[in-house]
Amino acid sequence: MPTYSLVIQNAAQVLTMAGGPTDRPLACLELSNWTVIEHGYVACEGDAIVAVGPMSELNPAHIGSETRVVDASGRVVMPGLVECHTHLVFGGNRAHEFERKLGGESYLEILVGGGGILSTVRATRAASEPELLANALHHLAGFRHYGVTTLEAKSGYGLDHATELRLVRVAREAGQRQPVRVVPTFLGAHVVPPEFKAAGPRAYVDFLLREVLSDLKGEAAFVDIFCEEGAFPLDVSRYYLAQAHKMGFGLKIHAEQMHDLGGCEMAAELGATSIDHCDYLTPAAAARIAAHTGGRTVAVLLPLVPLFLRQDQYAAGREFIQAGLPVALSTDFNPGSCPSKNLWLALSVACLKMGFTPKEAVAAATLNAAWAIAQQHDCGSLEPGKRADILVLNVGSVAEIPYWLGENPVRDVFIGGEPVR
Ligand code: NIG
Ligand code: FE
Repeated sequence: MPTYSLVIQNAAQVLTMAGGPTDRPLACLELSNWTVIEHGYVACEGDAIVAVGPMSELNPAHIGSETRVVDASGRVVMPGLVECHTHLVFGGNRAHEFERKLGGESYLEILVGGGGILSTVRATRAASEPELLANALHHLAGFRHYGVTTLEAKSGYGLDHATELRLVRVAREAGQRQPVRVVPTFLGAHVVPPEFKAAGPRAYVDFLLREVLSDLKGEAAFVDIFCEEGAFPLDVSRYYLAQAHKMGFGLKIHAEQMHDLGGCEMAAELGATSIDHCDYLTPAAAARIAAHTGGRTVAVLLPLVPLFLRQDQYAAGREFIQAGLPVALSTDFNPGSCPSKNLWLALSVACLKMGFTPKEAVAAATLNAAWAIAQQHDCGSLEPGKRADILVLNVGSVAEIPYWLGENPVRDVFIGGEPVR
């Protein structure tokens, strides 16, 4: 009889996220239907989960002298958080612009004036690769502390061939140097860099398609674009994503963040894995996207961004869920619109401002977030066969998770069956 390497036992609740469909993310009311096991356990062998169930089914014959036994009495046990949208690698910070924003200037006004993303591009181009790596590792340690076990990391502060490739390389390297799994995305089409200001957005994306994307095969699974006033218009975004798709990349888009340009629907029609921000996406368009994609495209909602940018319009999460559009939650960690790594706070704000229930919020930051970066085979739920990425929380029920506003509820983090902190 095999001996478990890790058993987490006596949990007040085990939030499995199991029991949903296997061919698409959790949608609609299913978001609340996943199983909560009262007084349960999770068992692992090596880096994989092998059994999950009520304590009455835990067979003591599997527990030997080598087994690490963790008591979770009175506590919630759940899958590691999946952070599906970050801009992890960048130089400098934008505290000076925070003061300008507090003084009344808008995000887009600062960008049009050569600041915003462009100010981080200057700081990132000036930083050395070891500096960028050290910063990324520092931020990953912070994410780990919050219980993030898989994280997507976008490039997008280089906007030239060498720097963009450096950012993807740094993200990969950071993933290898510590236990959080890092999934890199190419966001070379973040804004038009100064070198292409005269030639315009179409000329810049043609440069990316011709000279950069071929060097990213196998390095980044996804190509992303910022479709917004002051960044890339709808027609250029469609052209770029369609070409990237032909080259074999998965698609993502930043769209409907500050205006409704139709970017989400366009990207979903091209088969995008995720459509991100969606603050100005209408419930009618969300319903069309859900119908058209059969619920396979995930809307990644980023509630800390309107909060930080002092924007009144939040994504209509409740309506999206009712329309059958699968939703995920993320921080959008970056130096401009969300300098926070606290995904738990994002769950709370999603409940307060987007109409999520606590169960929906937890599913959105685990299983649906895994779907949003095509890692659902590997993480996002507590099911036999998945990687043993597990959290023990200092709370006793799922409802308490978004309730303790701004706190970090994490007591223990296991990645691949090993304790980390
Ligand atoms: O997702 N919206 C575009 N990009 C980022 C912000 C990047 C920045 O301001 O540096 C976002 O919000
Ligand atoms: Fe973003």
